[in-house]
Amino acid sequence: MRKKIVAGNWKMHGSPESVTSLCEGLVNGVNASAPECALIVFPPFVYLSQVQAALAGAQVHLGAQNVSQFDEGAYTGEISINMLKASGCEYVLIGHSERRHVFGETLETVVAKFKQAKQMGLTPILCVGETLEEREADKTSTVLAAQLQSVCEALPGDTTVFDGAVIAYEPVWAIGTGKSATPEQAQAVHAQIRQFLTEIGQINANSVSVLYGGSVKSDNAAQLFEQPDIDGALVGGASLDADQFMRIASCNKSS
Ligand code: 13P
Repeated sequence: MRKKIVAGNWKMHGSPESVTSLCEGLVNGVNASAPECALIVFPPFVYLSQVQAALAGAQVHLGAQNVSQFDEGAYTGEISINMLKASGCEYVLIGHSERRHVFGETLETVVAKFKQAKQMGLTPILCVGETLEEREADKTSTVLAAQLQSVCEALPGDTTVFDGAVIAYEPVWAIGTGKSATPEQAQAVHAQIRQFLTEIGQINANSVSVLYGGSVKSDNAAQLFEQPDIDGALVGGASLDADQFMRIASCNKSS
């Protein structure tokens, strides 16, 4: 059975004080009514230890927003997988659209990071998605196929590349715009992603969790989660409000 997940990408937001109150809100929310899905939060690197301590014992998992493709060494400004694991991370976002489009991360870099996370025991959440121009030019499926295919090519002959990994479909035009994909648009792409995984030789394509991201709020989450191929959400802005994040999570039922 596919894992149901609601994940919060805090991006570059927060102060020590706001992180403390957000974590308190999450702990209170989980204690009051534990959601049926797994919860993950992705704070900025500098708050990982603070969040790990604040969430100790609560059913909320920790992840990082980015990672280096290198093990260790003279890589100024980078953070390794082992450092993330030592800070309590179990998950890492790979290839978020802001990394690709604002910081120029290439397919090659994204693939190297995915491979590194997989091989060193952090669960990668691979973010994929098309720009508005690509959608309008009818290139959504070509773009997504290339993003997924490149990962498989980096691990040739491995029919289990995506086993244990998570995919987040985040159309670039829906991120931070308040303009979510409709449940039907998202469902169509999620079904396509599963189809691609099968076509590129992944034997367990049907067991990979595929999350939707892009302007998910408590008032549109339930309709998205009703779709058969949407296993949860990667939430940006609305994850900075503990009550709203918990309301989104409560919509993601286990069956
Ligand atoms: P918003 O929910 O703010 O649109 O952000 C989505 C996102 O980028 C999550 O990774």
